[in-house]
Amino acid sequence: MQIQDSVAFVSGANRGVGAQFVTSLLASGARRVYAAARDVNALSVNDPRVVPVTLDVTDPRQVAHAASLAGDVTLLVNNAGINRLERAIVPRDGDAARAEMEVNYFGTLAMCRAFTPALIANHGAVVNMLSVLARVALPMMGSLCASKAAALRMTECLRAELAAHDVRVLAVLPGAIDTDMSRDFPPPKLAVTEVVDAVFAALGVGPDEVYVGAMAQGVSAGLAADREAVQNQFAGYL
Ligand SMILES: NC(=O)c1ccc[n+]([C@@H]2O[C@H](COP(=O)([O-])OP(=O)(O)OC[C@H]3O[C@@H](n4cnc5c(N)ncnc54)[C@H](OP(=O)(O)O)[C@@H]3O)[C@@H](O)[C@H]2O)c1
Repeated sequence: MQIQDSVAFVSGANRGVGAQFVTSLLASGARRVYAAARDVNALSVNDPRVVPVTLDVTDPRQVAHAASLAGDVTLLVNNAGINRLERAIVPRDGDAARAEMEVNYFGTLAMCRAFTPALIANHGAVVNMLSVLARVALPMMGSLCASKAAALRMTECLRAELAAHDVRVLAVLPGAIDTDMSRDFPPPKLAVTEVVDAVFAALGVGPDEVYVGAMAQGVSAGLAADREAVQNQFAGYL
């Protein structure tokens, strides 16, 4: 699909990757961008094409309201996400796994369900921001990995269900990105522009599973060649 003249909806648009999506969409000629944030006062972009939307993806009423506002959407970017940096089995905070599932899996699922009628009507596209950790477990953030794995499988279901309606569904699986979320991770980290550029390229002509950056591409290739070796390597990062 073309970004030029598109009508996009971006969740978590106030910072990080989401804010870059809004900037790049506007720069690439989007006709309208619904910029959704839990606190719309935190949105920094000032452009008449931007429509601020209050949205917590775990709030069913806000999700339904967002979908009713944005019936003209042609590109849904499910970007909102959290990472509590917790192990799955022996966490410091036992509630983290549920919180990550609520946002990363159930929130994304709720958005996909609510926007499906508009996406079908407009022959649109969906971009689900996942992580390469949807494919392999990193124990130090194990519950995040589980939530992104669930979202990846759901994304595959969405792609299958919408295929007959001419709706593209992309799963984006980056390595570490230079945002607040990964502020304590060591480099190398992807620039937010690299991530958004890779998504735009894939929306033109590209694969439905978008591995962004050398690390993520290496994991994907490694899993295909020797799954156990990659799993063992990541299992060592306790
Ligand atoms: N950074 C990385 O290394 C990395 C790597 C792979 C994948 N990703 C994925 O990329 C996406 C963007 O991450 P980022 O790096 O830009 O993270 P970020 O800087 O921490 O931003 C996260 C965004 O999600 C929003 N959000 C969190 N919970 C929400 C909820 N319940 N409802 C609506 N919005 C919510 C945040 O809003 P508030 O400002 O209100 O908190 C914020 O706008 C996420 O899905 C993340 O998992 C990130």
